[in-house]
Amino acid sequence: MTQRTALVTGGTGGIGSAIVRYLAKQGHRVATNYRDEAKAHAWRDAMKNDGIDVLLVSGDVSNPVACETMAEAIASKLGPVEILVNNAGITRDTTFHKMTYEQWTEVVNTNLNACFNVTRPVIDGMRNRRWGRIVQISSINGQKGQYGQANYAAAKAGMHGFTISLAQENARFGITVNTVSPGYVATDMVMAVPEEVREKIVAQIPVGRLGKPEEIAHAVAFFTGEDSCWITGANLAINGGHYMGW
Ligand SMILES: NC(=O)c1ccc[n+]([C@@H]2O[C@H](COP(=O)([O-])OP(=O)(O)OC[C@H]3O[C@@H](n4cnc5c(N)ncnc54)[C@H](OP(=O)(O)O)[C@@H]3O)[C@@H](O)[C@H]2O)c1
Repeated sequence: MTQRTALVTGGTGGIGSAIVRYLAKQGHRVATNYRDEAKAHAWRDAMKNDGIDVLLVSGDVSNPVACETMAEAIASKLGPVEILVNNAGITRDTTFHKMTYEQWTEVVNTNLNACFNVTRPVIDGMRNRRWGRIVQISSINGQKGQYGQANYAAAKAGMHGFTISLAQENARFGITVNTVSPGYVATDMVMAVPEEVREKIVAQIPVGRLGKPEEIAHAVAFFTGEDSCWITGANLAINGGHYMGW
């Protein structure tokens, strides 16, 4: 397998860690960003104990200047980014009539504007080298909407609009752009939801359980593989049957 340089944003989180592991085990050189240095170093040490080496670069994905610096730091240490997984994300849930401007912008900046911030510095290189893989981690709630998540659902739906436009613009340059839309996965983000709410969510999932981060990583690795060169502009729902839109 050709070894590539991969950037997984939010790689220290639940789903991000699984994606980092999966790509690293495939032999790729993997980088991720961090905001909290102490937390990130502890995470990297734990990964190292499992035999996974990850390059940590400082960078807030909602800051376009920081993202340019991040891309340069990765290029100088591992080579230019060839596989990009826009995974970093947050929620700030509340019903829209109570939502503050800060709750709206924080979520849109971190989930959607980050796709511009992180992808813009690496796209020219991918086009010049005639190879690239870009995957957005969206959400089931970007597909179906969700009570209390107008900010998050709007940002996540926007990510797929980004995917299908970028896919068209870059198809002739050997770059594929796809979206993975996970359902509810057992990470800190979902475990922060009150237990009684989580039980109600699980009751709506035909498979009968929350997803595992590795199950999302598996789909990302499918899209980023060398053989997936004719798959672009797709949105793969991985949600245990929770939402079966077309
Ligand atoms: N868990 C689910 O059920 C689920 C379902 C559908 C979609 N998703 C999506 O999957 C992705 C990963 O979710 P997760 O459950 O793994 O969440 P998580 O465990 O909370 O991890 C989120 C990651 O994003 C990073 N991050 C957040 N804001 C950032 C910023 N401004 N700049 C840089 N990094 C930032 C976090 O870093 P810090 O540690 O510095 O905060 C963390 O590494 C998200 O986009 C989420 O919306 C999750």
